[in-house]
Amino acid sequence: MSKSLQAIRGMNDILPGQTPVWRYLESTFAELLDAYGYSEIRLPILELTELFARGIGEGTDVVDKEMYTFLDRNEESLTLRPEGTAGCVRAVLEHGMTGGGQVQKLWYTGPMFRYEKPQKGRYRQFHQIGVEVFNQPGPDVDAELIILTARLWKQLGMADAVTLQLNSLGSSEARATYRDALVAYLQQRFDQLDEDSQRRLTTNPLRILDSKNAQTQALLADAPTLHDYLDEESRAHFEGLKARLDAVGIAYEINPKLVRGLDYYGRTVFEWVTDRLGAQGTVCAGGRYDGLITQFGGKPTPGVGFAMGVERLVLLLETLALVPEHLARPAHVYVCAFGEAAELAAVALAERLRDALPGLRLLVNAGGGSFKSQFKKADKSGARFALILGEDELAGRVVGCKPLRDDSEQENIAWDALPERLAVCFEQAETKRTKGVSV
Ligand code: HAM
Repeated sequence: MSKSLQAIRGMNDILPGQTPVWRYLESTFAELLDAYGYSEIRLPILELTELFARGIGEGTDVVDKEMYTFLDRNEESLTLRPEGTAGCVRAVLEHGMTGGGQVQKLWYTGPMFRYEKPQKGRYRQFHQIGVEVFNQPGPDVDAELIILTARLWKQLGMADAVTLQLNSLGSSEARATYRDALVAYLQQRFDQLDEDSQRRLTTNPLRILDSKNAQTQALLADAPTLHDYLDEESRAHFEGLKARLDAVGIAYEINPKLVRGLDYYGRTVFEWVTDRLGAQGTVCAGGRYDGLITQFGGKPTPGVGFAMGVERLVLLLETLALVPEHLARPAHVYVCAFGEAAELAAVALAERLRDALPGLRLLVNAGGGSFKSQFKKADKSGARFALILGEDELAGRVVGCKPLRDDSEQENIAWDALPERLAVCFEQAETKRTKGVSV
């Protein structure tokens, strides 16, 4: 195939063999969120570029280097969303959903776009399931978000494979004072910093803390730490969060260097990480962003949330062999028809069966074919029964019902009795299966 007809680098097709795992993950989480009282919100994939520049912050990698930005036909600068928080905040403000202190507990899912270097677990189009809560200032809701993700790991069977990292970034004033102290410290050691960190010293100095460069990390060992600069309220908030996590037995590691790559955070930040996926080990990340809504022109409104990377969680489920077997959904019944008249009768019969047995996964053979070829297709479909319609069956107003997964006898069933008899056949096949006979 010519190169121009391939998918864009870092943007993946999710093929039919993979979609059942995606649906399993998405539906498990959607049900859990429903049980905790969260509602879904659906948001546009395109937003005005200014939304992200203002929300995520100039000087962040996402805004400076990774956005897919273009002018539309009206010369307006638009950007494919690199994350969901900014758009969600825009939506709640636009629809007056947070006025008068209204609490909102929302979730969303969908593709996000970042021009990053593609590698395992890092793509240019990737998917997040995100959660945002508005007008809940206390640490109780920070804790709830973490508790519900911990429950998801448990439900998926991966609780042992992920660990929680926690930090507090303090108030914006505390952060500004700390930033000055860190810059002063690193300025004196400027020549020893890696190139990226030298640049960040003026654009986004706190991000130097999670530099991957060993020499920079060594320099940071004696640098002032954010915790020494935490304001009293943030300290109490952090203690409140930890107490709640302790109360439900969720283990965490305090990581004073966890600063996150987006500018809007203050106070709580957290990441769930795994060591089973190589370099891209963060499967879920978030934190508090009480200042973001005023930045968009709204009244002061506390906000907190997180997003999980769906591709990374799917990879983790596969790596840990945690994909349940029942996800594949083979057909129940495959209808074989021989001759034009039988084909017509088969379509009608199939629709009557679908009416009578909702949920029945029924395939009707298409494109004719010999007895052998139709049976081959019936077998490949995974169906338990083949229904056979030929000239003789048509004349007798019956169908042949041939079990495909055990050695029971084929039987003829009258058309009118078919739904009822088929239901019985399934019940019998299920009983045999649970007694150890494979059907
Ligand atoms: P984030 O840390 O940029 O935060 O992304 C959240 C998660 O999305 C990451 O932990 C990772 O699992 C996944 N992710 C990010 N980039 C990629 C990529 N290139 N390829 C695959 N997966 C990726 C946010 O986006 C915030 N909006 C989270 C948030 C919500 N904070 C508060 N509310």
